[in-house]
Amino acid sequence: MNFEQRIENYFKAGYPVLWVKSPEENRAAHTLQQIAEQSKLHFWHWTVTEGWVNNQDKMNETDPIAALQAVRGIPENSMLAMLGYHFYLDPPLPEIVQIVKDLVQFCKSTGRYLVFISPVVNLPIELQSEVTVVDFSLPDTDELMVTLDGVLDAVGMKAAKKIKKQAVESARGLTLFEAENAFALSVVEAKKIVPAIIQREKANMIKKSELLEYYEPNETLAEVGGLDKLKEFLIRRKKCFEEIDKARAYHLPTPKGIIVTGIPGTGKSLTAKATSALWNLPLLRWDVGRSFSRYVGESEQQFARVFELARAMAPIILWIDEIEKAFAGASGSGELDSGVTKKTFGQFLTFMEENTDPIFVFATSNDIDSLPPELVRRFDAVYSVGLPTDKERKEIFAIHLRKRERDPAKFNIDTLVEHSIGYSGAEIEKSIITGMYEAFDQGTELTTEHILHGIADTPPIIKVMPEKVQRINEWVEKKRAKPASAIKPKTVRHIRVDNTLGRS
Ligand SMILES: Nc1ncnc2c1ncn2[C@@H]1O[C@H](COP(=O)(O)OP(=O)(O)OP(=O)(O)O)[C@@H](O)[C@H]1O
Ligand SMILES: [Mg+2]
Repeated sequence: MNFEQRIENYFKAGYPVLWVKSPEENRAAHTLQQIAEQSKLHFWHWTVTEGWVNNQDKMNETDPIAALQAVRGIPENSMLAMLGYHFYLDPPLPEIVQIVKDLVQFCKSTGRYLVFISPVVNLPIELQSEVTVVDFSLPDTDELMVTLDGVLDAVGMKAAKKIKKQAVESARGLTLFEAENAFALSVVEAKKIVPAIIQREKANMIKKSELLEYYEPNETLAEVGGLDKLKEFLIRRKKCFEEIDKARAYHLPTPKGIIVTGIPGTGKSLTAKATSALWNLPLLRWDVGRSFSRYVGESEQQFARVFELARAMAPIILWIDEIEKAFAGASGSGELDSGVTKKTFGQFLTFMEENTDPIFVFATSNDIDSLPPELVRRFDAVYSVGLPTDKERKEIFAIHLRKRERDPAKFNIDTLVEHSIGYSGAEIEKSIITGMYEAFDQGTELTTEHILHGIADTPPIIKVMPEKVQRINEWVEKKRAKPASAIKPKTVRHIRVDNTLGRS
């Protein structure tokens, strides 16, 4: 159901007061005006600077309380849109709450429709059953195309159909205002429409929204050592995203996502980034914790906005790092935070269940045990990452040496592998860097010896938190999750935790 139908249905069903949430207040107001005209309603529009304005009339009530009271003086059969009223409900004045409550009854019986429009919804609990919140969606590709044509017309330029289509695709997820700015910037900067400029502007704006973080695909799968099984899974899904239409015609569901769980520093986040390069899809990181808000109903709104943004930008990888922090224990009573976690958790489950857009959720976690089983069930697979095996450590040493312009063949990798039993990828990297500091300080080239010192100086997590690592390993062993590596981490199981590699 589109926005227009939803608004009309609410009015018909006897909801005379609505709250439209949109970062595009003016576009939302414009759309409401069109609905009003179609429904033969007079359209009035309020802002704190102008008061109530209609095509012909004007009422100078700029005071927020007087403005609400003035609604009674506006003729029947009117739609009244109030912009930016959220400022006056934070915190809510008891007087305003009461006036709105009274207005709901008044409007219901007199054919007046009051609509608040703002980017955030500050709806006091007393008004939540009276006022319905409706989301105003981001523009679709048709609307974006009209805007692009408008920008081109204005400067008397033309662009190839293919480029225009790409530019519009790149602008998906932006508001019309933002898209228009991005198109205009491209015209100014490059004297033509360049989809990459729009993409870049979108990355900036997503950053600004603070809901999702945009990652440039800088890492490749070749930079991830080991984890062959996981890599195989990812490589096998590549085509689904490259040839989405073909996959659909094949009746293949779009992959929903995976959870990669395991020991810290073993390449979970790294793999998420590398997947973005492998599939050639944008990686958007969602810090779920930041979407929780102190306002009633606001967390749900933030979640809805993230899903909307994700859908508008699909195909994408939606990366949720440390998902356990957001949803651990959500299937419990939810008493801790008045049920917000429970509600947003429900939203997330519904999204995972119902979404058919190509959005791949790449979730990482350190503690899968704390994740509710109904969440885990929504994913295509769970992969567990243990400490790297001998073969994997060999690869990781080579990767990180090459990354620093050193030829692995010049090092005694077998010795390094032998001395780094129980070390994670992150710890191996750290050992190399520590060794490099020493070598640099001595004014010599890096040698195996320096790295061995680095290893000795880096206490591995297995020594610092042996129980935790043991627990994760046992869990992997029990095969509740697929091990991400082809070879079981035998070397790890038999590690002597008291083994002293360190120099004293
Ligand atoms: N398998 C690996 N291959 C190559 N490098 C690795 C590997 N594992 C870890 N690293 C190095 O360690 C860094 C940190 O790893 P990463 O952030 O992926 O760990 P993580 O598993 O996400 O840890 P955490 O659970 O703490 O978030 C990586 O950027 C990379 O440089
Ligand atoms: Mg991580």
